[in-house]
Amino acid sequence: MEKYLIRGGKRLTGEVTISGAKNAAVAILPATVLSGDICVIENVPNISDVYTILKILEHLGASVRFLNKTTVEIDARHLNTTFIPHELTCNMRASYYFWGAILGKYGHARVSMPGGCDFGVRPIDQHKRGFEAIGATVEIVDGMLDVSAEKLIGNNVFFDKVSVGATMNVMLASVMATGVTVLENAAKEPHIVDLANFLNSMGANIMGAGTDVIKIHGVKELHGTNYAIIPDQIEAGTYMVAAAATCGDVLIKNVIPKHMESISAKLEMMGVKIEEFDEALRVSAERPFSKVDIKTMPYPGFPTDMHPQMAVIACLAEGTSTVTEGVWDNRYRYVSELQKMGADIKVDGKMAVIEGIEEFKAAPVKATDLRAGAAMVIAALCCDGETEIEDIYHIERGYEDIEIKLCSLGADIKKIDVPEISGAVAM
Ligand code: EPU
Repeated sequence: MEKYLIRGGKRLTGEVTISGAKNAAVAILPATVLSGDICVIENVPNISDVYTILKILEHLGASVRFLNKTTVEIDARHLNTTFIPHELTCNMRASYYFWGAILGKYGHARVSMPGGCDFGVRPIDQHKRGFEAIGATVEIVDGMLDVSAEKLIGNNVFFDKVSVGATMNVMLASVMATGVTVLENAAKEPHIVDLANFLNSMGANIMGAGTDVIKIHGVKELHGTNYAIIPDQIEAGTYMVAAAATCGDVLIKNVIPKHMESISAKLEMMGVKIEEFDEALRVSAERPFSKVDIKTMPYPGFPTDMHPQMAVIACLAEGTSTVTEGVWDNRYRYVSELQKMGADIKVDGKMAVIEGIEEFKAAPVKATDLRAGAAMVIAALCCDGETEIEDIYHIERGYEDIEIKLCSLGADIKKIDVPEISGAVAM
């Protein structure tokens, strides 16, 4: 079992380069299926979720070849199955993008239901209603999603709930449908725009991505392309908070400052200094931090995937801060772990009420999910003493080389491999 050992109390200083966006990569890579051709994708993050997607592509019959650390060539000319078994989908949510991509290309798919972070119930009704609106039948049998259509025909789809996954999935399924599909109340996240740009670079005709109405004129076929994925908004936000919380001074490179506005605004309200450049942000801070009130919302609102990290810096602010979760039913599993480090947080319905503390105390803690894990890393960087973080596989699903990047900023973080205790006697 791998763990991080973090000896905190050091200001982060220097420069860090942000990797390609996880939540764009995990949709764009499955979308190569639609091309039936060779695609070269650049700025691919080296994270375990990407390796899982690439394994699924190989299972489908694609040839996958890294041309360098962040560029991957996918040859999707000779795919030979539309079935994906449980062991390939159980560790990640984004395996569900193969529903839309395979359906869009072949008219049928049989894919095991997805895994991913545990935020309470994660329904798929909006994906289903989108597929059905364009002529597919959807059934869930024995943990498999069966989706098939004699012919996919464009239609209007109104989403009752703004969903990143459903917006992307129906975009994938309808890109080669006959006629026009209009997605209303669509999600507007940067990765939605990136997927649409990628599909358009393969010959699709998609307009309006980034607004809440997306119009997709079906095309007969798509072709291979060469495409670079956008930088990761959440990885950048995580380093912004880490820089600020450690009272550091860090230049964060390869970011799109526009994507960072909601995060920058809240950090600035806390007293953090942010300088904007074309493709970089410089974040520097000194305590005291002012208290903050945050409500997570779909883009361009404050991202839910920055909730646990912001809760950490809010712990170090003066007075009472609040973080209200507006996207997921339950994103508070990080709270009990932070409490082990001395945080004073009470959860009241969907709101975390956070009383400022002087400092965190080192303790053995767990990464309960990906962003909760990032939050534990930031808390550990802020406190004297050695914090041990378990279950770091969650963190490695979404952060490329996090320990290397943090060490380059002056952090003392080591990854250790501790043998599992086996043969324990049941009491
Ligand atoms: N929802 C429904 N029905 C659906 C789909 C979603 O009610 O059919 C609800 C969800 O229960 C939730 C809300 O709609 O309350 C938003 O869910 P969404 O579908 O937008 O989330 P997702 O596509 O499953 C993606 C990211 C998450 C991120 C959310 C919200 C990927 C692979 N995952 O999930 O990222 O939290 O959007 O922005 O893109 C992460 O990166 O750590 C992560 C969890």
